[in-house]
Amino acid sequence: MPLVSMRQLLDEAAKGGYGVGAFNVNDMEQIQAIMGAAKETNSPVIIQASRGARAFAQDRYLFHLILAAAELNPEIPIAMHQDHGNSFETCKSAIELGYTSVMMDGSLKDDGKTPSTFEENVEVTRKVVEFAHPLGVTVEGEIGVLGGVEDGHGAGGTGLEHITDPDQAVEFAERTGVDALAIAIGTSHGAYKFTKKPDGSVLKMDVLIAIHKRLPNTHLVMHGSSSVPKDLQDVINEYGGKLKETWGVPVEEIQLGIRNGVRKVNADTDNRLAMTGAIRKVLWTQPEKFDPRDYMKPAREAMQKVVAQRMTQFGQAGHAGDYAPIPISEIAKGYADGSLTTQPLVAAK
Ligand code: G3H
Ligand code: 13P
Ligand code: ZN
Repeated sequence: MPLVSMRQLLDEAAKGGYGVGAFNVNDMEQIQAIMGAAKETNSPVIIQASRGARAFAQDRYLFHLILAAAELNPEIPIAMHQDHGNSFETCKSAIELGYTSVMMDGSLKDDGKTPSTFEENVEVTRKVVEFAHPLGVTVEGEIGVLGGVEDGHGAGGTGLEHITDPDQAVEFAERTGVDALAIAIGTSHGAYKFTKKPDGSVLKMDVLIAIHKRLPNTHLVMHGSSSVPKDLQDVINEYGGKLKETWGVPVEEIQLGIRNGVRKVNADTDNRLAMTGAIRKVLWTQPEKFDPRDYMKPAREAMQKVVAQRMTQFGQAGHAGDYAPIPISEIAKGYADGSLTTQPLVAAK
């Protein structure tokens, strides 16, 4: 199957009432782990690459690895997405490479650290939409700012400092025409999200529900959605790691989000933990090993297991064959003739 539009994938998820995991990749093994899980559970997938991933793997390597995934798995719809684009140029370069979807994270300035103003965010996101839609490419925007820093990207802090304001979310969706809207509800990137199991004082599911009530047809995106399971932390620490006690986003909260308009669920940290634990275990228990396959194979299997579990929990399992891919050129026509609307339905307060 050719790479599909993320808009199509999310529209289908909305019809089916499920969420789709968006998993970060940096190398072949992670792509294979996601595809293995997608095959095992018959799931559509979003494969995403951060700026850091594109630099680490080099654009052409990563792009061709994802094309190989599409070629080898013709029954699985795959959207290829730029995660946290920091500028118009980053998004343009992803689109020119062949990505079918981009995130313009205009919540931060292009240094990827400093929160931007609302007007700056609207302006740069709108510019990306104007470039992307005529080419049939999906755009995700972000309003509000997540906590944490990953690979130099992020505002830092706890995640509670810039929670999305529902009125601004409405205005942002109306003025930018984005296909998907990432909101800040207290989550952060990375392993250290919460110091205990989160409750409503730190994980603002009420804000998500309020935004969904105002924007009932808008595809919402939850970033920083790794659950940071204790068993994955334990494997790392058992074999010489030094993770401090921490909590992630409980899967049941993500499922509550999915019942309230969340269609894309971003997860990276859980996969990093799973792979690192498996690698540590081999190197710690069998120090004589030195063939990378001896630890990369268990690492890939450990990631596949977590991804397959999330695909089932998010509800995307079983939906790979629900639809035929719409060519990107047809998607472009849909934006042009208005059949793919970019204006959100807004409910009264
Ligand atoms: O947004 C965060 C993702 O986990 C990607 O992280 O920038 O370290 O590749 P990265
Ligand atoms: P985690 O760090 O919770 O996995 O979040 C990943 C993410 O939001 C990527 O954009
Ligand atoms: Zn993110």
